Amino acid sequence: MTARTRHFLDLDAIDAAELRVIIDAAAAMKRGESGLNKPLEGKFLAMIFEKQSTRTRVSFEVAMKQLGGEVVVLNSNDLQLGRGESVADTARVLSRYVDCIMMRTYGSERIAEMADYASVPVINGLTDSTPPCQLMADVLAFEEHRGPIKGRTVAWSGDGNNMAASWIHASVKFGFKLKIATPPELSPDPALLTWADKNGGSVELMHDPRAAVAGADCVVTDAWVSMGDNEASRHNMLAPFRVDATLMGAAKENVVFLHCLPAHRGEEVTADVIDGPQSLVWDEAENRLHSQKAILAWCLQ
Ligand code: CP
Ligand code: NVA
Repeated sequence: MTARTRHFLDLDAIDAAELRVIIDAAAAMKRGESGLNKPLEGKFLAMIFEKQSTRTRVSFEVAMKQLGGEVVVLNSNDLQLGRGESVADTARVLSRYVDCIMMRTYGSERIAEMADYASVPVINGLTDSTPPCQLMADVLAFEEHRGPIKGRTVAWSGDGNNMAASWIHASVKFGFKLKIATPPELSPDPALLTWADKNGGSVELMHDPRAAVAGADCVVTDAWVSMGDNEASRHNMLAPFRVDATLMGAAKENVVFLHCLPAHRGEEVTADVIDGPQSLVWDEAENRLHSQKAILAWCLQ
């Protein structure tokens, strides 16, 4: 890695102004105003998946190809990585072949090791700790429908998981208030709340979903069982945090609903909410394509 390598590892490590540039570039690409001249022609992206994916995999591949680049998709079981070759050695070797590496993995230390040893930009395609690319699509979706997110209120109801962590990062970087309701046992890492406090954020942790959604412009949730989680007892703990029409009714009148997907109707969200008029989930999923084009261009240009 050189000092100038632009990794996209986590929102807390990237300047707010840079993140705004990426969102604006994504919006411009979505409108067809930029990115049309194949700016990444001749560039190769390697994508490593140690966990499953539909959206991340397809949107990154289409994004890279629309920008003129090429993709190599690698499932970890097909790699020597799956037989114990180190992340560091994989990083050093792939850096000799490709221009950028996207990795979806378990522990965040694996993506950190990849970035430490790669000499090309590394993008975090989700770890147990954070999915930073998803938040760029989410912020874009909110802003397309409701205008600037700065100064607005977002409510999280559910597991204090990796998505919740990236929402905490985003609330500080994009300047919105975040109210998080989780079961006490599934609260986000206290270090995230300390970080938000120290960085001028407005993040409140509570355990009552109705209190969280009061005054909210946006309600967000995620699966009760994330990849790598053990299911035991999660359903009972999380049932009171299900997003249904009653909970949406306790938020602002023009509230919108976001969910990174995949969704489990009847678990974390009812079908009438996710398939109803307040839901932005299909635009949110589409925005993975546009925001990742902007992330790739930011890393590679
Ligand atoms: N939201 C998201 O990352 O979806 P995939 O797991 O399908 O990539
Ligand atoms: N929290 C979920 C997000 C999936 C996109 C998981 O990590 O499985």
